[in-house]
Amino acid sequence: MFIAVVNQKGGVGKTTLAVHLAGWHARCGRRVAFFDADGQASSSRWMRSAEPGIEVIEAFDGAAILKQTGALRKQVDVIVADGPANLAEVTRALLLVADLALIPCGPTLPELESTAQSVRILEAARSVRVDRAPAALLVLNRLRDDRFALTRDAPAAVAVLGIPPCRSVLRLRETLADAPGQRTLVWRMGYRARTAALEMTTLMQEIEDYVATTPNHPRHLDHRAGTLPAGQAR
Ligand SMILES: Nc1ncnc2c1ncn2[C@@H]1O[C@H](COP(=O)(O)OP(=O)(O)OP(=O)(O)O)[C@@H](O)[C@H]1O
Ligand SMILES: [Mg+2]
Repeated sequence: MFIAVVNQKGGVGKTTLAVHLAGWHARCGRRVAFFDADGQASSSRWMRSAEPGIEVIEAFDGAAILKQTGALRKQVDVIVADGPANLAEVTRALLLVADLALIPCGPTLPELESTAQSVRILEAARSVRVDRAPAALLVLNRLRDDRFALTRDAPAAVAVLGIPPCRSVLRLRETLADAPGQRTLVWRMGYRARTAALEMTTLMQEIEDYVATTPNHPRHLDHRAGTLPAGQAR
């Protein structure tokens, strides 16, 4: 299963989501590889420290991604790719191999407009992959509380993009902002991060449910492994 976290817009939360997603699958007992396609190698460093058991591969151009994916699929259960901002060629390559695209997006107009460009790249990839077109989910990130109009309007605003949004959202959380600096995952940040950790868990479970119930999905996850082992901090 190849999950690509993509959005042409910078700073929308691709790396945050990708690193947590890879960490989630590893903690569920799956063999995981992490493709850092971001070009800055910062997600590689975060991923290696946060979950040393995950194989991290730096693949900064489309050719490297296409070349490495085939062999890697045979070696692991899940490949998670962290996409770059602005590099359409790399985003295109990721969407040519992905089974599922996750598109994080903040609630502001610039983010929505740039996300629309990424959706066009997704549609192009779908048009050439008729039999194995990637599924896609939008993930709303950095929402404030419901007193803010942008937060209240976000679900309606993203509906125009034509990609189903996850019901679960990630709110603006200080602990999520701190996680890369500490090179850790919110599940390991203790009591202070309990709300962020719960939100992340809920989102991961929703993505798992989506994969498990999407018809014709090329490779379903082993759904029995879809909860954190007992004793793991959430
Ligand atoms: N829900 C959140 N709450 C608080 N901070 C967040 C949240 N999501 C992401 N951030 C912070 O916002 C910044 C941008 O996030 P991130 O690096 O994940 O985005 P990106 O899409 O990968 O960016 P780039 O396009 O530059 O690679 C980071 O400092 C991250 O810690
Ligand atoms: Mg990034």
